[in-house]
Amino acid sequence: MKMTGSEETLLPVSSDQDIIKARQKGRDLAAWADFALVDQTLIATAISEIARNIVTYARRGTIVLRIEEEPDRLGLVVIACDEGPGIRDVAQALGDHYTTSHGLGMGLPGARRVMDDFAIESKLGEGTRITMKKWRTKQAVPQS
Ligand SMILES: Nc1ncnc2c1ncn2[C@@H]1O[C@H](COP(=O)(O)OP(=O)(O)OP(=O)(O)O)[C@@H](O)[C@H]1O
Ligand SMILES: [Mg+2]
Repeated sequence: MKMTGSEETLLPVSSDQDIIKARQKGRDLAAWADFALVDQTLIATAISEIARNIVTYARRGTIVLRIEEEPDRLGLVVIACDEGPGIRDVAQALGDHYTTSHGLGMGLPGARRVMDDFAIESKLGEGTRITMKKWRTKQAVPQS
């Protein structure tokens, strides 16, 4: 898999198979970007939860994965978009155990906990966009 900082991976999400694929692509990108093993797993898990929500609540959507580079740190960015029903109360949905589907209500709060940045934009009847990022510091380059 070829990946550079300027490239994006766009993943359609509408089935269990797509959820598994998005999870795997996230892990691959995290490994490629030299995230620690534990972070690779956390990123993959967060992607999986957000992808599962797309399929459950919006039926279909997309997940974009990309690397964002800053002078001192490198971020793995996940953007999940759907045109589903939207979330009535985002603050409530981010609380532990809130569910409208007899789930555990732990997908959103769990993903927020394991990622560094987490933002939800949602409009009833229009859809939901979740942007989440995990950062790692760049290793210092030895002075010559
Ligand atoms: N993409 C989405 N579109 C519309 N509503 C959503 C979306 N994602 C989450 N929600 C709403 O937010 C609630 C909380 O989501 P969360 O993932 O935390 O829990 P859950 O899906 O109910 O259970 P689980 O712990 O199994 O994930 C959902 O029950 C649903 O009402
Ligand atoms: Mg969920």
